[in-house]
Amino acid sequence: MAAIEDLPGIDPSKAHVARMYDYYLGGDNNFEADRIACMELDKVVPGTRGLAINNRNFLVRLVHALATEYGIRQFIDIGTGLPTMDNVHQVARRAHPDSRVVYVDIDPIVSVHGRALIADDDSTAFILQDVRRTEEILNHPDTRRLIDFSQPVAALYISFLHQIPDRDEPAGLIRSMVSNLAPGSFVAMSHLVAADPQLRKQLTDIMLAATEGNWGRVRTKAEVDQFFAGLEVIPPGLVEITTWRPDSTAAEEQTFDWIEYGGVARKPG
Ligand SMILES: C[S@@+](CC[C@H](N)C(=O)[O-])C[C@H]1O[C@@H](n2cnc3c(N)ncnc32)[C@H](O)[C@@H]1O
Repeated sequence: MAAIEDLPGIDPSKAHVARMYDYYLGGDNNFEADRIACMELDKVVPGTRGLAINNRNFLVRLVHALATEYGIRQFIDIGTGLPTMDNVHQVARRAHPDSRVVYVDIDPIVSVHGRALIADDDSTAFILQDVRRTEEILNHPDTRRLIDFSQPVAALYISFLHQIPDRDEPAGLIRSMVSNLAPGSFVAMSHLVAADPQLRKQLTDIMLAATEGNWGRVRTKAEVDQFFAGLEVIPPGLVEITTWRPDSTAAEEQTFDWIEYGGVARKPG
């Protein structure tokens, strides 16, 4: 079998967010370029590893809440990331064994590892696709097979939309997804924000340089609030994510210069 770095679409000399995140979470699916990019970030915002771990725990808490409190059994997880300890289908199935999950990610390495994880699983699919191709994602045969669009769905954009530049209209991507979902569906997101304009620019520049332009930008809380326009944000609202329905897992020490800010909202009706 070809080495993973020889697969089409994989350039090990260029950092990729999925592999940087994997490095922060303690995984081993990352290359030197990813580790160097993380070290560059750490010089400016030490504590980003804690931020990544806390983000992953937020994902687990919100999937658990959607499944147990709101009865959600269908998930579309955009920007899945490399498999790690608790993946969406595993968390959802602890509440509802019949849960169905469609994973979407643009990174071929995520696709290889994601597909290996769910190889014998008929209720979960992995689609290698760019989020900007909403129609292809929604009309993909696996999406049509697994997701019943007449019933509520949760669309997850966790630690995701900061990778989408303004020119690609992140708010429009959410709107077109929501327009295809039944009333009572949910959107969940977390997004990197920083209050200080200089730091926002500095962190954005580091990520753009590391990924050779494959990134969006760090935004303000007010800009992220707008992504939920027209939706009903459920308690406790859009917040720094370690404060979103905390459980008994202790939060990791993290930087508060940039934070993951997010929450969950329902499509009314
Ligand atoms: C930081 S990881 C987040 C993983 C996971 N959602 C979590 O929060 O634990 C972001 C993921 O988004 C993926 N991604 C980046 N741009 C994308 C795009 N345009 N379409 C689909 N996936 C994308 C990356 O490959 C990466 O795996």
